[in-house]
Amino acid sequence: MPEISVDFNRPVVMGNEFEYMKQAVENGHISGDGPFTKKCHAFFEKELGVPKALLTTSCTHALEMSAILLDIRPGNEVIIPDFTFVSTVNAFVLRGAKPVFLDVRPDTLNLDESKLEAAINQRTKAIVPVHYAGVGCEMDPIIDIATRYNIAVVEDNAHGLFGKYKGKYLGTFGSMASQSFHETKNFTSGEGGALLINDPVLVERAEIIREKGTNRSRFFRGQVDKYTWVDIGSSYLPSDILAAFLFAQLEQREKIQLHRKRVWEMYHAGLKDWADAHDVQLPCVPDHCEQSYHMFYMLLPALELRQNFIAYLRERGVYSVFHYLPLHLSEMGQSFGGKIGDCPVTERVSDQLIRLPFYNSLTSAEQEQVIDLIQEFPF
Ligand SMILES: Cc1ncc(COP(=O)(O)O)c(C=O)c1O
Repeated sequence: MPEISVDFNRPVVMGNEFEYMKQAVENGHISGDGPFTKKCHAFFEKELGVPKALLTTSCTHALEMSAILLDIRPGNEVIIPDFTFVSTVNAFVLRGAKPVFLDVRPDTLNLDESKLEAAINQRTKAIVPVHYAGVGCEMDPIIDIATRYNIAVVEDNAHGLFGKYKGKYLGTFGSMASQSFHETKNFTSGEGGALLINDPVLVERAEIIREKGTNRSRFFRGQVDKYTWVDIGSSYLPSDILAAFLFAQLEQREKIQLHRKRVWEMYHAGLKDWADAHDVQLPCVPDHCEQSYHMFYMLLPALELRQNFIAYLRERGVYSVFHYLPLHLSEMGQSFGGKIGDCPVTERVSDQLIRLPFYNSLTSAEQEQVIDLIQEFPF
């Protein structure tokens, strides 16, 4: 029997979630774009300073919208980091693009900007940097290269809400950015996401694509006298019940971020010496980046050790996980020509990475138990 029980993730009610969901029903508007959705949009537009924010049913769907907005089609190439979730690439492959997998930096595990220029050719249509663990990619060189070659940048900011690069919010560098409110994220509605639009030219078409290819948003604003099918699109807007839950979480921004900062710092302080002594790599946050405190990961020296480590913690009631497998070596990745050795850093770190329990109600006492167990792991 496990001695203790610490989950990897737990959904946590942080404030007025249930009250606002009740209000959403009482408002008589629980489909999309109701009062709570509008509050969430206004929140992001004000707090992040983005021209337009649109809630979506997931980060995956926000990325799909961005691919439609960029008119991605067969013959186009899209550059993405090899070390990421499938949605980052799938959204573009769905439109017919060929993915070009770029290896990641060994320190932050973000797209390696020094390899970017060599991956660009006439067919390159977009670059999709992922701010892994909410630590900013090197956006200055990335934006510089993208601008020189006239290529769009879509930031996959699933992990990075409220993180900053050189004082500027992640999600405000590319023409668009995607956010996730999946239950493992700092702010959640169970499933959910948002598309942040920094290029105002894209806003009107984004509203159409999100509303099944219709000009329904313009109709409701009184800008056209009927609404009709004007473009391709899908149903990318979430119920106002989910927006109500999310808005209550967003209202607790300070409390949530402070708590997560404390969790991250306690892991870091408690494991630093142990990590140094055992050749374990802890996360790197460059001085010019303010992280979002999304996760705490470690890189163990080798795959077998990582697997034993996860099993050791689980036998004692602590749930840790690993992710991502190298995309270029997945079945789909290989169908695009991926082979062993293409992205050596990703191939290595995907064998080594482990994520520790991290959620908005994780207590110091629980963390102490996790840290104590880790320090007793028989290397
Ligand atoms: C980097 C990254 N992008 C996209 C996604 C997809 O997010 P969602 O589950 O909201 O579609 C995830 C999921 O965790 C992710 O880690």
